[in-house]
Amino acid sequence: MTQPVAVQFTETDLARVAEAEGRVAAFITPDGKMDAGARRVNKLTKGALARMTEAPGFARKKPGDVVTLAWPAGMAAEAVDIVCLPRNAGAEDLRKAGAALGKAKGKAPLLVLAGPLRKPAELVQAAVLRAYEFDVHKTRDAGDDADDTAPGPLTVMCGKPDEAEAAARPGLAVAEGVFLTRDLVNEPANVLTTTEFARRIQGLEALGVEVEILEEDALEKLGMGALLAVGQGSDSPSKVAVMQWRHGEKDAAPLALIGKGVVFDTGGISLKPAASMEEMTMDMGGAGVVTGVMHALAARKARANVVGLVGLVENMPSARAYRPGDVVTSMKGDTVEVINTDAEGRLVLADVLWYAQQRFKPAAMVDLATLTGAMIIALGHEKAGAFANDDGLCRAFLKAADDTGEGAWQLPMGDAYDELLKSQIADMKNVGGRSAGSITAAQFLARFVTDDTPWIHLDIAGVARTGTETTLAPKGATGWGVRALDRLVADGYETG
Ligand code: BES
Ligand code: MN
Ligand code: ZN
Repeated sequence: MTQPVAVQFTETDLARVAEAEGRVAAFITPDGKMDAGARRVNKLTKGALARMTEAPGFARKKPGDVVTLAWPAGMAAEAVDIVCLPRNAGAEDLRKAGAALGKAKGKAPLLVLAGPLRKPAELVQAAVLRAYEFDVHKTRDAGDDADDTAPGPLTVMCGKPDEAEAAARPGLAVAEGVFLTRDLVNEPANVLTTTEFARRIQGLEALGVEVEILEEDALEKLGMGALLAVGQGSDSPSKVAVMQWRHGEKDAAPLALIGKGVVFDTGGISLKPAASMEEMTMDMGGAGVVTGVMHALAARKARANVVGLVGLVENMPSARAYRPGDVVTSMKGDTVEVINTDAEGRLVLADVLWYAQQRFKPAAMVDLATLTGAMIIALGHEKAGAFANDDGLCRAFLKAADDTGEGAWQLPMGDAYDELLKSQIADMKNVGGRSAGSITAAQFLARFVTDDTPWIHLDIAGVARTGTETTLAPKGATGWGVRALDRLVADGYETG
């Protein structure tokens, strides 16, 4: 896993500012007030910060904006990052500021003069998240920004370093989970096969997560005909991975997280066009988020019962591949007429959702999937689509998403949409036509959810990976959902 930059907390000692190598960050309020750290930088630079606040451009700065002073005279640092932040900045502004610092940091060491921040945790997590770089496949001389020197640490200088560190620790554990998700999503499909994915999931055992890998013979015995049909054209064997973290109230029903793990989606016999097909390495994004959340919960030792189940398959055309027109039988027993082999994610999820309910009787269930291109048409890359059979659970999730700055928006469901899935020859078809494509996909899943299981489906097709950078991530995998789901657990499923 890509390692987050090392973070250390230390007692305020402004005598160290002049000699600090790399970058130094100081804070200034929108009305130009400086704390002791900023005043020290101002003094060392012979009033550069004061001059900046007097310049006309400063009035246009927004909370969280950063102005960089390069190669400041009077200091050893290569740059000073001056962060414009009000005294009682909210989480969103702290994240924005942290992200700007994390992006500017690159591989340089960064000293944050965090004296005026009451709670640096949010800013620190954001800096760490934005400093992510997926460079495992760059050899030293190949890329323009390839550089295999280890990144310098992030040092937070503040009043009560022990307290600040304790408060930041859970957020840093969650950042590790986000990095795991991003690595999985960024990884190409020749590396991240179903077998390699399962191996990486087994890595969670080191944190105390119980992991089981169900192989094809076991899936056949369980009757997972829908999931197995999708994977049958591939040389990579289909698998279901089960992760269990049970450190909540004894015997309390768990929260179940289910993920679509299509390691590559060619579309199968209903082959996708060539343009952008390479993006389908991210079609395991749902499974990536589930794995990242399990890592986060274990790394921060959450007192909760959570199980994660992911269906790992590859959707390939071949002589053995399933075809349009095939009728497959799901574990539930319902039959599905396959109209389009590219609508494969729902077939995978149908069996994993059913298995999760049969085996764990979860208190609630959340599935995540890069399920439909239509989701990107509807909400773009800003927000994931949420679909639910339970308003309370959905509200709780949307709040967790909002609190962590991860956008989500609820879309409707209903019988009229479900009707579109009627088949002439089987219990249902796997596509409902062009209209409301994301909703009919959700309706398909709903057929595999029992009425007494509160459930949300998150279609993350637009947010799992983006072609431009986001606040907290460079271009590529975002890790969307790890922080929101971690927060959902913290707010609603933890004891004590
Ligand atoms: N993995 C795709 C959805 C997708 C598209 C995710 C673009 C991310 C970016 C999914 O398996 C798929 O192919 N869906 C089809 C469904 C259709 C055949 C009903 C789609 O959206 O076109
Ligand atoms: Mn597909
Ligand atoms: Zn897919």
